[in-house]
Amino acid sequence: MERSSMSNPSGSKAMRFWPMALLAGIAILAIVGAAALVIFSGWYNVAADVPHTQAVYWLMQTSRDRSIEVHAVNIVAPDNLADPKRVADGAGLYAEMCSRCHLAPGMERTEISRGLYPRAPELRHGVDLTPTEEFWVVKHGIKMTGMPAWGVTHSDKLLWDLVAFLQKLPELTPDQYRALVKSAPSHEEMMGTEADHGHEDHTHH
Ligand code: HEC
Repeated sequence: MERSSMSNPSGSKAMRFWPMALLAGIAILAIVGAAALVIFSGWYNVAADVPHTQAVYWLMQTSRDRSIEVHAVNIVAPDNLADPKRVADGAGLYAEMCSRCHLAPGMERTEISRGLYPRAPELRHGVDLTPTEEFWVVKHGIKMTGMPAWGVTHSDKLLWDLVAFLQKLPELTPDQYRALVKSAPSHEEMMGTEADHGHEDHTHH
């Protein structure tokens, strides 16, 4: 509001301002009150065997997608994601760390994959994420979904191996998948080599 109108002695502006302010205040209180009622009454069902309402689903999905996009913006992917050694190492890690939730070519649905909500997508069908977005998700996990933050326990190098494997996963037959997993070093071996030269690319976020 401009100074000249504030000092207008007629009072007509003020007479319009205060009822509006009161209405706005009441509206805000009503919204906060309704939210408190929903939260504290326990009305929203958090059970994983009952789907979200459309509105909550939209809210969570949209915040999730935007958050991943924005947080992955400054990540730079290594240029050797197609390196067969990376892909094979990633396959070994995937079989051990990811397949029980995300399944794999030729694999039956597991109990955990059937009970998770939101569902863990079957990554062999491909995902709508870029490699850097995949890296961010794998490293940091996703709150309130069961997707763990693997960066807590694994170096960036191993996480990029996983991302390298994810690029190949949609083309693999069950036999190719099994062969690739077999060709990978054991998890312990990979974690061991890690301890030796694991600090090479910890600059990414
Ligand atoms: C305990 C179960 C579980 C394990 C183990 C797990 N994930 Fe997930 N993951 C999930 C769930 C659930 C989601 C879906 C989250 C959502 O809907 O927001 C998810 C989402 C993802 C996504 C995003 C997919 C998309 O379309 O947006 C990627 C990529 C991913 N996981 C990779 C991995 C990798 C790689 C591993 C192994 C290192 C792994 N996950 C291990 C449960 C798991």
